[in-house]
Amino acid sequence: MTHAAPGDLIVDWYAAAARDLPWRAPGVDAWAVLVSEVMLQQTPVARVEPVWRQWLARWPTPATLAAEPTGEVIRAWGKLGYPRRALRLQAAAAVIAAEHDGVVPDDVDTLESLPGIGSYTARAVACFGYGQRQPVVDTNVRRVVARLVHGRAEALPARASDLGDVAALAPADHDRAVRFSVAVMELGALVCVAGTPRCGVCPVRGVCAWRLAGSPAHDGPARKV
Ligand code: ADE
Repeated sequence: MTHAAPGDLIVDWYAAAARDLPWRAPGVDAWAVLVSEVMLQQTPVARVEPVWRQWLARWPTPATLAAEPTGEVIRAWGKLGYPRRALRLQAAAAVIAAEHDGVVPDDVDTLESLPGIGSYTARAVACFGYGQRQPVVDTNVRRVVARLVHGRAEALPARASDLGDVAALAPADHDRAVRFSVAVMELGALVCVAGTPRCGVCPVRGVCAWRLAGSPAHDGPARKV
């Protein structure tokens, strides 16, 4: 019988089961994290990995990318798709180079003020790049919270309470809270997947509101929060 909190169970599961992805390695800087997050927004991990490595080898800092002719940047984006993301990344790099001494900002509000950087990416950079305790909420995370906390079958549309829901699940310990942000994302990507989740290998199956409700296949209308 365990009484560990769900957030701790998810962090421990991550330590044992997470994918070994290069942008999660120790010492990866905030610029490399920013590049990874923009690439991962609309492109699967396997296609991002080689391009991310080439990109960082060629443009290891925001200033180096900012100085590059835009045609080269688009070409290097290659087959990732949605090449407007490359332009947005270069625009953000230009602001970082011109207004922030070439250093990726470390606070969420400043990050969000950069061109093309929204709430998700700003929090991902602050958390994964700078080790801050930040809820980082993508669709996978919203699906975990919808099931685990709200007993629903699928993710609800993004809403203002998402950040608080995720923050409330995070462990109290700072380092574990930082790891929790990537761990809950990974749980949604690998186990708590859309459609038929892999509950048999889920670390929080015993405390999941959706499972405890009998895993209903369909949701009723969402309550407004
Ligand atoms: N690790 C950190 N952010 C990620 C993302 N968006 N997709 C996959 N792995 C990640």
